[in-house]
Amino acid sequence: MATRRKFIIETIAATTAAAASIHPSGRKLSKGLMSFEKTFNDSKTVNKPVVISTWDFGIKANVKAWEVLSSNGRALDAVEKGVSVIEADPSITTVGYGGFPDRDGFVTLDASIMDEYGNAGAVAFLQHIMHPASVARMVMEKTPHVMIVGDGALQFALANGFKKMNLLTKTAKDAWKKWLKENHYEPVIDRNNHDTIGMLALDNNGNLSGTCTTSGLAFKYHGRVADSAIIGAGLFVDNEVGAATSTGLGESVIKISGSHLVVEKMREGKSPKEACEIAIKRIAEKQKDYRTFQVAFIAINKQGEVGAYAIQKGFQYALYQNGENKLFDSDYLVKT
Ligand code: GLY
Repeated sequence: MATRRKFIIETIAATTAAAASIHPSGRKLSKGLMSFEKTFNDSKTVNKPVVISTWDFGIKANVKAWEVLSSNGRALDAVEKGVSVIEADPSITTVGYGGFPDRDGFVTLDASIMDEYGNAGAVAFLQHIMHPASVARMVMEKTPHVMIVGDGALQFALANGFKKMNLLTKTAKDAWKKWLKENHYEPVIDRNNHDTIGMLALDNNGNLSGTCTTSGLAFKYHGRVADSAIIGAGLFVDNEVGAATSTGLGESVIKISGSHLVVEKMREGKSPKEACEIAIKRIAEKQKDYRTFQVAFIAINKQGEVGAYAIQKGFQYALYQNGENKLFDSDYLVKT
């Protein structure tokens, strides 16, 4: 069936589009777009819905996202609801409520979101609000802007019905006090201290969305913002191609515009895993100290194929597809 469909699509595309530079849908195509369309017309059956997210806590987040996707909901709603479970969980010390504070003891949050129309929203250096990804969505949907930061983001959230709260739990405060004693007020970059949740979904209508939300590097400089809030770095969605998101050392991801790079590689025809691997290898080429930190990307394409790649061993991603929610070990670069 898939082969027959592929043959028919290719035949129509070859006879009409090639003759008149017109896509079978009637759209006029540029040369670049024609090769893009060929890539996707060549593909197999679309496997949807699907949701993929970072780390083992992604399993719990996927369950919530799947509730939306399996009832024909929108990918955007699925990812927002999915990550909200992790943002609200005080036992997770890298996202939302319970996140470790900066070196001055303030919990400051970054988040971004993109929908199937290419709309984008983000907040950075946001304090006192448990659900930064939802605030990012509101920035996207209710303002002419893409990003609002700091006190402006807080005021915007409060004006739109979000509740102000203390996000610093006792566990996080104790950890900060211990860190202050041991680390002389200097942030420590290592392989284990950035467990952002990034989530990407493809819904039953074939639309993609994504979000990324974090409390950032534990005990960072006050005011530090990293990849999770930066569209193109921690998150990128192009509904014609695919979506990608990252976790790990955000500064490293920003320097290569990581998630945008992954999506552009998928546009060129790479599989999601190949595209993630290219981005990780770009980091290794450009950043000599790459062995000292962790970065990982996850990606999904328009066909519902997914992939991941990390610098170091240990990165896991959660995938809910075909009714099954499973945790996978990612492939990685540093093998020796
Ligand atoms: N990737 C999250 C951060 O570095 O803050």
